[in-house]
Amino acid sequence: MTGGGQRLGAAISRALATRGYDVAVHCRASCADADALVAALGRGARRFTADLAVAEAPARLVDSVMATYGRLDLLVNNAASFERTPLDTVTVEQWDRIFAVNLRAPFFLALSAARVMATGGSIINLSDLAGFETWPAYIPHGLAKSGVAAMTRALASQLAPRVRVNAIAPGVVLPPDDMDPAEVDRLATSTPLGRHGTPGDVVQAVEYFLDATFVTGQVLFIDGGRHVRR
Ligand SMILES: NC(=O)c1ccc[n+]([C@@H]2O[C@H](COP(=O)([O-])OP(=O)(O)OC[C@H]3O[C@@H](n4cnc5c(N)ncnc54)[C@H](OP(=O)(O)O)[C@@H]3O)[C@@H](O)[C@H]2O)c1
Repeated sequence: MTGGGQRLGAAISRALATRGYDVAVHCRASCADADALVAALGRGARRFTADLAVAEAPARLVDSVMATYGRLDLLVNNAASFERTPLDTVTVEQWDRIFAVNLRAPFFLALSAARVMATGGSIINLSDLAGFETWPAYIPHGLAKSGVAAMTRALASQLAPRVRVNAIAPGVVLPPDDMDPAEVDRLATSTPLGRHGTPGDVVQAVEYFLDATFVTGQVLFIDGGRHVRR
């Protein structure tokens, strides 16, 4: 469970623990939150640390999880950066960092995980509605998240029948703490269902993919209908 110690990741970690998973909670900077969560989840949960911007980190993280548990049934690629990059100031360094964390790391985590998963393994990737719309201040983020959806379909075809690969594309379910409240309201009122979602809406989608053993290669929008706005 990458980025599993806080925000959306913590909600998914809790739901997985409730379903009986021993959750490997990954963190990079929010490790105090991850430690508190691991303590609350109890037996079977462990904390793992990695900076997923580092090329070797995905393979090492899977090795560490395997060394601890000896098996891996589910990978949730949740960790991501959400970096503002207006077109007049975006740099190559920002592009490389965003693509490393949001697309390269999920890809190599998925490959490393799939190598050790038994039949019935599952990978769930967090894409983003931003990957299907143009958000002017977040174009590299959107391109990387669009890549996550394309990667989901490609890996689903290549890893079947042993491992299923699906993705969730949320709209706003948990706005960043520093988002302008007026913008948060504008996004809610311009959503067809007239509100933002909740972390629980994304957790429901995770639970659906875990139960839906005839489903692979899907990208499920959890966005109150924003992707079909006129
Ligand atoms: N929140 C929403 O409304 C929303 C909407 C659309 C899509 N999503 C997607 O859903 C997922 C979770 O959303 P969120 O808002 O909870 O995400 P978030 O708080 O922005 O980030 C999730 C985690 O990513 C980890 N992370 C960032 N850079 C990293 C790096 N270099 N190495 C390792 N970990 C790194 C962070 O871990 P540390 O804090 O430990 O560094 C963080 O806890 C993301 O993939 C996001 O793109 C969310």
